[in-house]
Amino acid sequence: MTRRPIMAGNWKMNNLMNDSASLTLGILDGIKDLNESQMPEVIIAPTFTSLALVSRLIKDSSKIALAAQNCHWENSGAYTGEVTVGMLKDLGCKYIIIGHSERRQYFSETDEMINKKAKSILAGGLLPIICCGETLEQRESGVTDEHIASQIRAALSGLSNEEIAKSVIAYEPIWAIGTGKTCDSAEANRVIAMIRNVVKEISDSSTADSIRILYGGSVKPATIEEQMSMSDIDGALIGGASLKADSFNEIITNSMKVAV
Ligand code: 13P
Repeated sequence: MTRRPIMAGNWKMNNLMNDSASLTLGILDGIKDLNESQMPEVIIAPTFTSLALVSRLIKDSSKIALAAQNCHWENSGAYTGEVTVGMLKDLGCKYIIIGHSERRQYFSETDEMINKKAKSILAGGLLPIICCGETLEQRESGVTDEHIASQIRAALSGLSNEEIAKSVIAYEPIWAIGTGKTCDSAEANRVIAMIRNVVKEISDSSTADSIRILYGGSVKPATIEEQMSMSDIDGALIGGASLKADSFNEIITNSMKVAV
């Protein structure tokens, strides 16, 4: 089974509307001559305040999909400051990132909340990008695999095989995020293969073969080729290097040098 690679830019809490517009136009310009059938699926995740603008800028291009960085699991109600899946669909989002370690760490998001969000996103017709990852302390104490496996089991709990197959997982070791220190490609691939195995245990092998699992953590133009040459790494979730059109575009083109 060939899984279409994904190159996803998570802009985090950056960019006023003007910055988002120039970044989007820079990406569109950089990928305009690429053959779409050979391209990865390119996803960008601006802040909520730039979604409407970016959505308009990319509406005539089939080469970029839009993602939000978070959502609430309820469809409406008294949840001041929150945003529903329906609102994000209305803005043209196809994906929603959930369970990012920054949300787990700074906003106390639990596995249970992430599972409710995954269900709500799929019920609303969008696709979740579910993040998981261990801290340095967990890695050093040898509990990486059991921690990640438990995050994945919780996030996917109660989903049908069909829903799991179209979801996306991002393995982002916390110690590699924004530190410039990428996880060794072979080790990232080992953890991602382990995640695929957990998916197989809770669903079946064709579901595990279909789900796309990305690596995230200090991905740069210089690292992506090696990462994409690994058997189980299906793409990347990119923070810092997605904030400049040049480096994001270079990541996309470098990723295409690897035959899938
Ligand atoms: P960096 O690429 O800046 O390390 O961020 C990774 C990340 O958290 C993407 O979601």
